[in-house]
Amino acid sequence: MSVFLSCHVRRGVQNAIGRNIKLNLNDGKNVRRMSSLKVTETEKGKKFVPFTDMVSSRRAEARRSIVVQVQSSQSFKELHAYCSSVGTVKQMLHYTVGVEPMNFIVVEFASEKDVTSILDKSSYVEDSQIIPVHSQFLWFRASNRKLPKLKQSKTAILNAENGNNNLTAAEIVDLLKKCDSVSDQMKQLYDFTKLNDLGTRLRFLTACQVEDAVRGMFPSAKAFPFGSSVNGFGKMECDLDLVLRLSDEKVKSDARLMFHCKALVGSERSASQRNMEAMGDLLQLFLPGCSHVRRILQARVPIIKYHQQLTDVECDLSMSNMSGVHMSDFLYIMGSIDDRVRPLIFTIRKWACEIGLTNSSPGRWITNFSLTLLVLAFLQKPPHSPPILPSLNNLVKLADSTDHYMTEDGINCTFLRNINKLKKPAGNKESLESLLKEFFEFYSHFDFTSKAVCLNEPVAITKPEHCAMYIVNPLERGLNVSKNVGLEELDRFKVEARNAAWLLESQEHKTENWGLLSIFENKRKSNNLFNFAFPNKQARLMEVSTLFENEAAPVEFKNESVKKQVESIRNEKKQKLKEIQKLNR
Ligand code: CTP
Ligand code: MG
Repeated sequence: MSVFLSCHVRRGVQNAIGRNIKLNLNDGKNVRRMSSLKVTETEKGKKFVPFTDMVSSRRAEARRSIVVQVQSSQSFKELHAYCSSVGTVKQMLHYTVGVEPMNFIVVEFASEKDVTSILDKSSYVEDSQIIPVHSQFLWFRASNRKLPKLKQSKTAILNAENGNNNLTAAEIVDLLKKCDSVSDQMKQLYDFTKLNDLGTRLRFLTACQVEDAVRGMFPSAKAFPFGSSVNGFGKMECDLDLVLRLSDEKVKSDARLMFHCKALVGSERSASQRNMEAMGDLLQLFLPGCSHVRRILQARVPIIKYHQQLTDVECDLSMSNMSGVHMSDFLYIMGSIDDRVRPLIFTIRKWACEIGLTNSSPGRWITNFSLTLLVLAFLQKPPHSPPILPSLNNLVKLADSTDHYMTEDGINCTFLRNINKLKKPAGNKESLESLLKEFFEFYSHFDFTSKAVCLNEPVAITKPEHCAMYIVNPLERGLNVSKNVGLEELDRFKVEARNAAWLLESQEHKTENWGLLSIFENKRKSNNLFNFAFPNKQARLMEVSTLFENEAAPVEFKNESVKKQVESIRNEKKQKLKEIQKLNR
């Protein structure tokens, strides 16, 4: 039986794009098959919403929502009837967690007051073993003799069903195979793997829970999501970075009554570590759904890692300054200036993940954040065409009085926030495919030995200190974002970039795994391939040792610079051969 329905999105869903996916409900096994994919709405023509407005509206949306665990998606009709008896229901979005799925519905009400009323009517099971926490995370008790079944609401609509379903690896391959061009593959990859509306709602609800945990003592506390959850570069399963600020109030200079407060004991760092420790205990002991709490307090920025099981989100909670949030604003702006930025960054992040350049655990490898800055820096000065993005200094110059921000430890985060006021760099009409190739070419040749990548200026600058890779932190210019990257990892990045450029350049006809698929599967093959960029290191690119041995190798070079490099290696080899022959004589 094959049923056509829109799986991620039903009527009225606010997802950035509509995703029509044909489902194959095979003998009830519910096997999902991607066959008809249609992007109904692109980001083109969408009005720019400044980052702070987007965050405020998402926070407000989360504040007027609850998360309810239910028996199945079909519980929505009864749940709707119950919720409508208390307030006005705006939207209901269903999602599942786990292999033997637990079902949940996010209910968005028309106002925060409705949520207060519904929570006032909610209760706990009678059990001395439970901790009676009040929160927006609830479960829907089954009807029984005392609680008769409610009349199912006829007006109820489920705005999303299985709204957090990710495409499987096989579905992504299938999707990319069906595309017409590499540019199309890049767009589709972005459209179908980016964090959707429900994913964003769940992240803001997760932040609300942390805020509520401390609200009694700190009524103006705010937990701000930052990083890929909000900067426009997040994929469906991305982590949630959170910074908890205990007070968001401005100091009132005219106040006569002042709060008594305790002073921090010891150094600021040790006090902050102790506070984080207490926060970790709070999450672990009291908050429903918070599990696997790990305290990483020795890091430069101490964090608590935990998993929120009810929203299925991995969280990194810190209590430091707001620079990460301002950085997210900057990245959000850069992604909004031109439609090509996000698909390009998604593709490069996916490529790096597939070939093992990035890794979810911390180490000497390049991070997604560093990769993102490399792409943005490249787009500020693509070598063969006009810039696509402005430098940060340019945005600083255009800032007005509403854009002034200084963190409490003195980091100046002032830059233009509303790009409607920006005269965008014009004239660059390059396709995504061509930008991708150029990116790989650009960094495979980049002089990382003496140059630093810098987004503040429109040019690369001299490296201020010795390290493998230097990317100037755009907001804290004294810091190197890629300080962790080791020399071997940098070499690997350059080799892989060159390999990817080669693979994209040398494909004449569509093979089975063409375009992005060829660069994503590089990892499996890389050990047998020839590495012409670093001939003495681990072999990578292709089984074509003959290419350098035999000048008559039937390879047609489409790219001049690749051709030059192969020729130079051929000459080097010839030279070496001559020297060996001389010695043997
Ligand atoms: N950040 C920063 N300086 C750093 C590292 C991180 O300002 N040296 C900020 C950036 O705003 C970054 C955020 O912290 O986006 C979160 O960092 P991280 O989780 O490492 O990167 P993400 O962009 O969230 O990417 P990922 O999807 O891999 O989590
Ligand atoms: Mg992150």
